[in-house]
Amino acid sequence: MKKRRFRRVLFVLLALFVAGILFILVSVYLSANAIVVTVYGCESPKIEEPIDLLLLTDMHAHSFQEGNARLLRRVAKEAPDVILIAGDALNWYSESHDYVTNLVERLSRIAPVYFTVGNHDAKYMTQSQDYGLLDEIEQAGAAALNAGYVDVVVKGQKLRIGGLYDFVFNRNGMDEEAYRQTEGYRFLAGFEDTDDFKLLLAHQPNFLLDDDPEARWDIDLAVCGHEHGGQVRIPFYGGFYSTHLGWFSPYLDGAHLINGIPTVISRGLGTYTKGGYRIVPPRFCNIPELVRIELR
Ligand SMILES: [Fe+2]
Repeated sequence: MKKRRFRRVLFVLLALFVAGILFILVSVYLSANAIVVTVYGCESPKIEEPIDLLLLTDMHAHSFQEGNARLLRRVAKEAPDVILIAGDALNWYSESHDYVTNLVERLSRIAPVYFTVGNHDAKYMTQSQDYGLLDEIEQAGAAALNAGYVDVVVKGQKLRIGGLYDFVFNRNGMDEEAYRQTEGYRFLAGFEDTDDFKLLLAHQPNFLLDDDPEARWDIDLAVCGHEHGGQVRIPFYGGFYSTHLGWFSPYLDGAHLINGIPTVISRGLGTYTKGGYRIVPPRFCNIPELVRIELR
């Protein structure tokens, strides 16, 4: 009798162990290869005709099938009016920029593409001395925005789309005069100086976070990535840790109002493997995410 109960307990424990291993393997696989589309709405009196934005971030040179065929099919299916790439298309250790120029070239056949750099793209450029990257992205068909903006017309409505990779949304302890001389401050001051809808691509949500009550920029929508949704997520809960934002930060993904700026943070589409001094775990319970933002 005792022996039979012992066997039953052993069997249950073994079954739980195998189920746990299977769950981890399936989740890691899906977190690298599946694609989910998350939809957010953004209402503005400046928008009369609906505009659909599609946000791609943090691909980290990951291809969904040969030539990114599955990602491109998914993007085409969404039929966006505008495509946004908010940084980290490459890895800092990428050997060339072919991944991003090929992707931009194909995406730009679907809709106009606007690109800004992430920390990996920036480090890739300095590491490999590939300072022509942004020009090549422009030649591939996107507007490459680095402390820059373009005024565009979408469905008869004027939009100002900018890109900024810098910690300049507040003074960061700098004195007022020096702050006003920074490239980022001058960019933001020029960028906000219009009545048109202002959309900013800013790779890192922590660019926007601060406790300076004077740091208020008139921006209608910011889109970010960088955090990968916390990379490893707890089922039914979500991300719980970021090296930049600490434990249980709400800014790992989702829609937020940050210092008065409506902000959407994507979990991104990929990840990197070489983290420098630390081990990078794979994405877990974290399906690669395309973000669709419906401007209304
Ligand atoms: Fe990233």
